[in-house]
Amino acid sequence: MTTTDTIEGIGHDTGLVGQFRRPHGMLGALAGWIMAHRASNIGRNRWTVELLSLAPGAHVLEIGCGPGVGLGAVLASVPDCRVTGLDHSELMIRQAARRHAAALTADRLELWQGTLESLPHGAAFDAVFSCNVLQFVTERQALLAEVKTRLKPGGTFATTYQPRGQCASAEEGRAWIGQFAEDLCMAGFGEVEVREKPFGAMPAFCALAMALGTR
Ligand SMILES: C[S@@+](CC[C@H](N)C(=O)[O-])C[C@H]1O[C@@H](n2cnc3c(N)ncnc32)[C@H](O)[C@@H]1O
Repeated sequence: MTTTDTIEGIGHDTGLVGQFRRPHGMLGALAGWIMAHRASNIGRNRWTVELLSLAPGAHVLEIGCGPGVGLGAVLASVPDCRVTGLDHSELMIRQAARRHAAALTADRLELWQGTLESLPHGAAFDAVFSCNVLQFVTERQALLAEVKTRLKPGGTFATTYQPRGQCASAEEGRAWIGQFAEDLCMAGFGEVEVREKPFGAMPAFCALAMALGTR
């Protein structure tokens, strides 16, 4: 376990730890740098994007894009894609904009500061995903209902969770993703499945689901 792993997952909303929920100021900038450079973070973002099996030309939304690692994974692997990155942190939107300036200029990327409810698009997306974000959201059913309104019928949703920090355990991760999968079923998603992938000492867990034809 690295120092940054220990710092991120202690669970208090103070200091650097709390920054991963909504980065701001100098500590937030450091949190953004850590997320952009840590191998496990890059790996779990790439894995999540692979699991979406995106077709060329796909229109994709990332919830809680942070400094833009997942956005980069989509832009680099899906020809002719269009990507929207959403984050409630103004600092993270700025970091993502710097990281992907060329994609913004080429109109392949759009960045939106705010929550999902504030995003103007209707059912525009072929896929929606998030990595280590939804553990921060308490109103789970409200969020999932909102995700459904953003997906085209047959569109795919993926959320990945990798427990972090001193108290993290694979068992806790499995329990969290299992509950999330149940919540997806309750929210009316179809073809719900859970994947697990080892990343060093701690696996990552991804729940995948499909938006059904009617809302
Ligand atoms: C731990 S970071 C993960 C960032 C990125 N997904 C990654 O893997 O590098 C969580 C991010 O989600 C954002 N976030 C948390 N809750 C959010 C919400 N309700 N709406 C929008 N963004 C949110 C935070 O601002 C932060 O940038």
